[in-house]
Amino acid sequence: MTLPPLPYRIGYGEDAHRLEEGRSLVLGGVPIPHARRGAVAHSDGDAVLHALADALLSGLALGDIGHYYPDTEEENAGLDSRVILERCLALVREWGYRPANVALVVTLDQPKLGPLRSDIARTVAGLLGLPDTEVGVSFKTSEGLAPDHVQVRVTALLERAGDE
Ligand code: C5P
Ligand code: MG
Repeated sequence: MTLPPLPYRIGYGEDAHRLEEGRSLVLGGVPIPHARRGAVAHSDGDAVLHALADALLSGLALGDIGHYYPDTEEENAGLDSRVILERCLALVREWGYRPANVALVVTLDQPKLGPLRSDIARTVAGLLGLPDTEVGVSFKTSEGLAPDHVQVRVTALLERAGDE
């Protein structure tokens, strides 16, 4: 595959997980205290990092993480989402791009995540090698429409490396 050398490319990713009692909830690499329920998932269920990894891949039309890490493969059980993100980031770099800024929206009814906004921004920024200012973090409730789910949507702007 060849890619036209666009100066910028936009990527978009989504992920959703069902929530169940007795599981932990991790979002953007940050454990969520007081979450009564956590994500049901084949991996560690970090919906932020999964959606972010998909956003990076989609900006380069490289498919999605399920293509690289099928949830039917035993070796992917409990896989650390940070490892998935690092590998997707490595692919972005191999294709001559780097993340410029990202925006993520977490839809979750409970608990309130506002107090964790800067922790999540800092952790995600650290994983991407970006300043905290380049990671926008928004929270929404589903207004009771999906109380048993966490849903994440991410846009990522990629810029061509070397075009300072
Ligand atoms: O979805 P809604 O507009 O009702 O959310 C109101 C506010 O609650 C949002 O601006 C958001 O910052 C905050 N919120 C939060 N934690 C959540 C969901 C929403 O802090 N889990
Ligand atoms: Mg509202």
